[in-house]
Amino acid sequence: MSDMAVWPAGRRITVRDLQAATDRGERWSMLTSYDALTAGVFEQAGVRALLVGDTSAEMVLGYADTLPVTMDELVSMVAAVVRGTRIALVVADLPFGSYQAGPEVALASAVRHLKEGGAQAVKLEGGWRVVPQVAALVGAGIPVMGHLGLTPQSVNVLGGMRRVQGRGDAGDQLLADALALERAGAFALVLESVPAALGRRVSEALRIPTVGIGAGPGCDAQIMVWQDMAGLTTGRVPRFVQRYADMHARLLDAAGRYAADVAAGRYPDQAHSYA
Ligand code: KIV
Repeated sequence: MSDMAVWPAGRRITVRDLQAATDRGERWSMLTSYDALTAGVFEQAGVRALLVGDTSAEMVLGYADTLPVTMDELVSMVAAVVRGTRIALVVADLPFGSYQAGPEVALASAVRHLKEGGAQAVKLEGGWRVVPQVAALVGAGIPVMGHLGLTPQSVNVLGGMRRVQGRGDAGDQLLADALALERAGAFALVLESVPAALGRRVSEALRIPTVGIGAGPGCDAQIMVWQDMAGLTTGRVPRFVQRYADMHARLLDAAGRYAADVAAGRYPDQAHSYA
């Protein structure tokens, strides 16, 4: 059966399409996206779902961690990604402070992502503590993606971004959390920075798709921060990052040649000027 026959072409992918792909054993991919242009490129490339992540705090807004980004900031990025796409499922992150206080607060935030942003689903971090929030959102008709393992919004409790989570006995707790999120109605689960064996164990235990980021090849789907994937970020990156391009070097070269041409009077020339 062709790709076109199983993935919708003329409408948006839904959470049911993602589940169906997982049920038939097909791996699918997600990327983060924060603007209309990259969203359109990623969708064209066959990336099935886009996450407007709170990593936008670091990747777009220049903060040191994910905590400062606000609902207002995220909603406008969600709306841009939705405007730039026709097919990809758009998942909007619930930022730090927008859901932890309880189901009512979570519902108000999630509703904004769907009503103002146009997202089709939301994501939040945490295990058993957020089960009431997940149940409330799903009960209100909002698909929820969970997020376990390294949960960057807890950077201050973790005492820094200690990479690998879920080693030893902590793996049993993570699996229990994953099952609780599935029971509460989550449609998928991000597993970040956990041992590959735990990623596989959780994936085998759940019916809903697991979306790995540093969780090994046993997950049903994968996600990466697009600037890591495309090599726009520089310096030390986590072990799980594979660079598929060197966007930093390409952009540096283009901007450098542009600046040099302007300085030398080579740009604009006749061909790029109006008569
Ligand atoms: O906010 C984000 O981009 C994320 C991904 C790294 C999974 O949570």
